[in-house]
Amino acid sequence: MRSPARYFPVVFVALGILLSSVITIAQQNPRDEEGHAWWQHAVFYEVYPRSFADSNGDGIGDLRGITSKLDYLHKLGVDAIWITPCFPSPQVDFGYDVSDYENIDPMYGTLADYDRLVKEAHKRHIRVILDFVVNHTSDQHKWFLDSKSSRTSAHRDWYIWRDGKGPDDPPNNWVSIFAGPAWKFDPTTGQYYYHYFYPEQPDLNWRNPSVESAMFDVTRFWYKRGTAGFRLDAVDILFEDEQLHDNAFIAGTDKFGRPNMDEKYNRRLPEVHTELQRLRKVADEYDAVLIGETWTPDVNELKAYYGEHNNELQLPMDLLLTSLPLSPQVLRDHIAVVDAAGGWPTYVITNHDIIRSYTRYGDGTHNDDIAKMMAAFYLTLRGTPIMYYGEEIGMANNDPKTKDEVKDPIGKVNWPMEKGRDGERTPMQWTPGANAGFTTGTPWLPVPASAQTHNVETEERDEASILNFYKKLLELRKKEPALREGDYIALNTADSNVLSYLRRYKTETVLIAVNMSTQKQQPSFDLSAQKLQKPQARTLLQNGATVPAGAFKTIALEPHGVYIGKIR
Ligand code: NOJ
Ligand code: CA
Repeated sequence: MRSPARYFPVVFVALGILLSSVITIAQQNPRDEEGHAWWQHAVFYEVYPRSFADSNGDGIGDLRGITSKLDYLHKLGVDAIWITPCFPSPQVDFGYDVSDYENIDPMYGTLADYDRLVKEAHKRHIRVILDFVVNHTSDQHKWFLDSKSSRTSAHRDWYIWRDGKGPDDPPNNWVSIFAGPAWKFDPTTGQYYYHYFYPEQPDLNWRNPSVESAMFDVTRFWYKRGTAGFRLDAVDILFEDEQLHDNAFIAGTDKFGRPNMDEKYNRRLPEVHTELQRLRKVADEYDAVLIGETWTPDVNELKAYYGEHNNELQLPMDLLLTSLPLSPQVLRDHIAVVDAAGGWPTYVITNHDIIRSYTRYGDGTHNDDIAKMMAAFYLTLRGTPIMYYGEEIGMANNDPKTKDEVKDPIGKVNWPMEKGRDGERTPMQWTPGANAGFTTGTPWLPVPASAQTHNVETEERDEASILNFYKKLLELRKKEPALREGDYIALNTADSNVLSYLRRYKTETVLIAVNMSTQKQQPSFDLSAQKLQKPQARTLLQNGATVPAGAFKTIALEPHGVYIGKIR
């Protein structure tokens, strides 16, 4: 038997390596005096790679295209980009059907292009986050091809296979969120497999430890390439009831006209949280951030995703915000819950699955002012914002006009009830020229006429543009510690037209007031409860707002006007 002393040198070397890598990570990612990590100060920006910038004229955006726009993103004030899936994929769900987790789809470039993108981004202090499609793979992934080949194949249990109840009768009544049943019969082995999304997206079986370890290794593969974290796709459906109980039907119908189902047995199972804790442990080895696609029917449920000991997701996205009306009362109540959830809030007003914020909030008359107002609101809350490409120039939805034009399968299958998500995924509008400067070829989705006015080149020249408003806002976030670190204190909580609040940090106070109504408003402020007896205001940024000279008392706000000021 070997003596334990013989292991000492090995142990010391290993400890040395571990310590030095911990020190390197700590040096790269120092915490501020509040103990806040980089992702708590960062502004994230979602890039839909198909539509951002096309470098080779095939009409589809690519990684080199993104790299060529890093200067733009840097000047805008973005600190991290999240790239939606760019891995090899048959593109049935435009990349959310991954056939190889450890490569780049040739349509987007190569691993070398990715490495260069990360390197160039880091030069500009921009981190890169990838999209991890955890719940399902493509049906063309080699794991699934093997899994379906026979009942005894090595990967059989990597997916969820079950016998039907009888001929043409699936194992239970669960439905796919995209259309039809969630089970597909496979004649080769005479069983059904489970797919929450399209049949081409079979669900992985996360109860199988081999799946877990293979997927954890995928994250390590990307962390080692300098990837700073992941946005986790569809985390709430990682697990299903093992007994496959039928779900109950509940009142009402969904957007496809199907009876609503209480997804008690295939959504938000407690096992999700255990798994997120394990995934987080791997992320912590690399000081990486995990952002969650966390749809919750009730905002109070968001709290669970941070983990009881803040050991699950650092940034569970508040996606409910995208479905709320422009009502100060509703938004105030909502923010109060998110802000009090105990974790770091993560705000989003639009993404690649939702009608663009410009269109959703716009009233047809004040659209540009409303876009600025929404930006001033969500970019000054306590927490981390995640922008969506084109939001900063006021890009509008451009929905398909006929079924033939539709590219997104959910629009094809469910037309006309559902037009699909093409409208919010159109090419980034860089110039007023041909194809908005996105490609020299034919863009994969059409560019709307509004690109003539709402594009980067034109807006950069216009001091009053939405783009310049965003730039000033992001600059302010960097300059004002109160906007990054400060507490959120709601003001005038009975006001149903103007949403106002303070951000307070040490001796710094910033007041934000946004008029959500189409009428002029003149709110008054009594800040004595905040021990600001004779306050003075200094404007930091405004749109349609004036503050009378002298002691600060009131703000005159135009319809959808915005005021951000420092109070002393
Ligand atoms: C959520 C993604 O955001 C969406 O685009 C996709 O279709 C589904 N998850 C399935 O991966
Ligand atoms: Ca291309």
